[in-house]
Amino acid sequence: MTKYIVQGGRPLFGEVEISGAKNAAVAIIPAALMVDGTCRIENVPQISDVTLCLRILEQLGASIRTIDRHTVEIDSSRIRSTRTSYELARKIRASYYLIGALLGRFGQAEVAMPGGCNFGVRPIDQHVKGFTTLGAKVVVEGGFIHASAENGRLKGANIYLDVVSVGATMNIMMAAVMAQGNTVIENAAKEPHIVDLANFLNSMGANIRGAGTDTIKIQGVDRLRGGSYAIIPDQIEAGTYMAAVAATGGQILVKNIIPKHMDCITAKLVEMGVEVEEHEDTLLVRRTGKLQKTNVKTLPYPGFPTDMQPQITSVLSLAEGTSLVTESVWNNRYRYVDELKRMGASIQVDDKTAVVEGVDHLTGAPIQACDLRAGAALVIAALAAHGESEISCVQYIERGYEDIVEKLRGLGANIRSVEVPGEIEELEAHIG
Ligand code: EPU
Repeated sequence: MTKYIVQGGRPLFGEVEISGAKNAAVAIIPAALMVDGTCRIENVPQISDVTLCLRILEQLGASIRTIDRHTVEIDSSRIRSTRTSYELARKIRASYYLIGALLGRFGQAEVAMPGGCNFGVRPIDQHVKGFTTLGAKVVVEGGFIHASAENGRLKGANIYLDVVSVGATMNIMMAAVMAQGNTVIENAAKEPHIVDLANFLNSMGANIRGAGTDTIKIQGVDRLRGGSYAIIPDQIEAGTYMAAVAATGGQILVKNIIPKHMDCITAKLVEMGVEVEEHEDTLLVRRTGKLQKTNVKTLPYPGFPTDMQPQITSVLSLAEGTSLVTESVWNNRYRYVDELKRMGASIQVDDKTAVVEGVDHLTGAPIQACDLRAGAALVIAALAAHGESEISCVQYIERGYEDIVEKLRGLGANIRSVEVPGEIEELEAHIG
């Protein structure tokens, strides 16, 4: 088992390069299954969720060529099977994108039910509603979701989502790309990775308009051909480093970002007294004075992202005054709070709201990550805390953050990764 040992209390200084977006990559890689030819994907983050996605594609018959650390070529012209490995697919939440991709191209898919939930109920009813509206039959049997299109091809339709869902929007978009006729998705999610997936599919020959607004229009095409595409930078990874320097103090240059994607996070940090200077594809983030309280409510894009809620709560636990954090996307995303309390944070959670009373400092402690962003929040707290912290279950963190230890060390943090013998790595319940 790997643990991180952090000696906290050092301000961060230097530059950090942001990797490709995890939540775009875990959709674009399955979408490559729809392409009858080879697609080259650049800016692919080196994280374990991506490795899993690529292994699933290989198992289905795609051939994968690694060009360099961040570039892969995927040739899906000889797919052998539309049934995913149970063991692989159940480990990753994003395996649900394989349904849209396989169903869209081959008219059928058998995908293991996605992995366990770490923050409450994570239904996929809106995905299923989309597929059935497009003419598929969907049943769950033996741990697998079986989806098949009548006569082998889906038919374009109008779909109104009852909840704004990132996953359902992307999954239905994939399924509709090669459906017969036109599809309209209304009340669609607008996250940057939705635009990225649409751009990827369009660059392979799809006809999708309106991604990034709440109405997406898709004109079905007969086939997708090969091409080349670069994934956008990871908004949440960038936000996590911004939150880290907010907590520790110091000054860092966050490189390879799209500043517009960061506005919702930047605005909150500025309210807290952090200085943020925007350049073309970098942000200079500085915190010298005291942190001020603020209130944060998570919302679908362009609101404050739920995937930054744990990290901002860590920062607010060190701000002057009492802040309110409201989680309105997920119904149980405060499991990390008990770990922050071990470090001296003063936080009371009541249902969807956390009341965060800022403390003067946190103290290092043995703490455990319970999911990806919770893990990132603990790293931030440990970097700012007085003394040593030992963070366990870091495999969650490594599902979504490329080289986090090396990147933080590059900013002057005292953090190292150590192998602890004799303990079994737990790699189940995944939430990404
Ligand atoms: N929902 C439904 N029915 C559905 C789908 C969603 O009721 O069929 C509800 C969910 O229960 C939730 C809300 O709608 O309350 C939003 O869920 P959404 O479908 O948008 O989430 P997701 O697609 O499963 C992705 C990210 C999450 C991120 C959310 C929200 C991936 C692989 N995961 O999940 O990322 O929190 O969107 O932005 O893209 C992370 O990266 O740490 C992570 C958890």
